[in-house]
Amino acid sequence: MLLEINDLNTYYDESRVLQDMSLKVDHGEIVALLGRNGMGKSTTLKSIMGLVTPRSGKVIYKGKDITGFPPYKVAKTGIGYVPEERWIFPTLTVMENLVMGIKGGKIDKNNPNAWTVEKIFKHFPSLEQRQKSKGANLSGGEQQMLAVGRSLMGNPDLILVDEPTEGLAPLLKREVRDMLESISKTGVSILLVEHNLKVAMSLANRVYVMKKACVAFAGKVEELAAHDEIRKKHLEI
Ligand SMILES: Nc1ncnc2c1ncn2[C@@H]1O[C@H](COP(=O)(O)OP(=O)(O)O)[C@@H](O)[C@H]1O
Ligand SMILES: [Mg+2]
Repeated sequence: MLLEINDLNTYYDESRVLQDMSLKVDHGEIVALLGRNGMGKSTTLKSIMGLVTPRSGKVIYKGKDITGFPPYKVAKTGIGYVPEERWIFPTLTVMENLVMGIKGGKIDKNNPNAWTVEKIFKHFPSLEQRQKSKGANLSGGEQQMLAVGRSLMGNPDLILVDEPTEGLAPLLKREVRDMLESISKTGVSILLVEHNLKVAMSLANRVYVMKKACVAFAGKVEELAAHDEIRKKHLEI
């Protein structure tokens, strides 16, 4: 198993936002984390990334206990993070934003498969055209591509991506979806929080559905597709 979180309990002050939250991501998988607003999906990603520290439970990455590591150390172990707010540097160009991504990640000079700016541009042709544009002048879709591209510059084995299609027009949702698929084919595993059920179901190998603070359903995409009750109760409006 690449990533395993076991029985995480995470609090904001005295309010418990994760209660015995557990999930796994295997090598090469795309795993979708679904559920209504406020259930704890983003907090799950933040707990893995060390942006919030769980009070109990374990985060195991490649067999190593990384619970409570600060975010920069988590990044160095090979986990990339693409937050909902994207965290693009508005006054830096596309190229400069990408180069910033090198700093946080794993540096492996002898790795022939390491991500480079050239390789990123192959996966994101629209970014190449915009390479001299400032972050602030990009469209929402371009910012999303850039945020994912920047996380790849750290050569992660796993990326945590929070609601990448949020607020994008249908055509751009499709483009972001296809970009995630093409990245997955390079061998990067993905834990994807996604609101758009169609996007999630078309990408993921396995799915977790959260109810308040923990898992309501875990299974294959086909199992969720066949499970009307779970979909109605926890996903559909
Ligand atoms: N920084 C914070 N401080 C206090 N409460 C928070 C904070 N972030 C999120 N919460 C609360 O934690 C719960 C889970 O939030 P979140 O993980 O963002 O859910 P989701 O991503 O599933 O929408 C919500 O009730 C939310 O209001
Ligand atoms: Mg969220």
